[in-house]
Amino acid sequence: MNKQLRKAVIAGNWKMNLLPAEAAALVEQLKPMAAGANCDVVLCAPFVDLQAAAAAAAGSNLKIGAQNCHWAASGAFTGEVSAQMLKEIGAEYVIVGHSERRTLFGDTNETVAKRTRAALDAGLTVILCVGEYLEQRQQNITVEVVRTQTKIGLAGVSADELSRIIIAYEPVWAIGTGLTATAAQANEVNKAIRDLLAELYGRDAADGAVIQYGGSMNAANAAELLAQPDVDGGLIGGASLKAADFAAIVRAASEG
Ligand code: 13P
Repeated sequence: MNKQLRKAVIAGNWKMNLLPAEAAALVEQLKPMAAGANCDVVLCAPFVDLQAAAAAAAGSNLKIGAQNCHWAASGAFTGEVSAQMLKEIGAEYVIVGHSERRTLFGDTNETVAKRTRAALDAGLTVILCVGEYLEQRQQNITVEVVRTQTKIGLAGVSADELSRIIIAYEPVWAIGTGLTATAAQANEVNKAIRDLLAELYGRDAADGAVIQYGGSMNAANAAELLAQPDVDGGLIGGASLKAADFAAIVRAASEG
């Protein structure tokens, strides 16, 4: 209903794929497509690819993002990367709380909130990921789980800062499995997230917020998902590694 208030954001999450030269080559391939896109296009690269990806994307409509950041500004955190470091190297976005970080690397709602805070302080836009496990969907607690993840993840985020927050609803059972939420399932949860944002920040702020869907989105199913009133873009894993497939998703978003 208020979809015209929002510009869709299509973000590729390359995960742990592509060497720096491969990342730069994929950016080059995507540039012509991005020039005509009627949506924002973000590529979230591994840390070591950021410099090459940002250099290749310079002067184009493509924006570069990272896939995680630490919450401290600096210090004795061996192996970690700060939000300011990401900003300095050319990232404008950062994914926070991806289910792979939560499941495999111990991220919790509380650490996600700290990373979100640090990213905003560094001037980055945050793609905050939420989503339920299959058992939670089967127990009919999807909305409750996602509301809790969103609410805690946003603790300390002001209404003004909400314009630099993208929520990505990614059901864990749909990630990398080829199982996609139906358009109705995706829209139902995205709408529940928007209703929570309205409770927290007011209806106008909620209506302006970008809420993506992610989980096996591809060239074939993107148009239907992106046509949903509360689906404002996608966070794409596997299909973002193939230029033609990713371009088709960007086209679907430009039209949807
Ligand atoms: P797939 O598109 O490969 O299912 O991955 C989704 C995802 O995790 C994006 O962050």
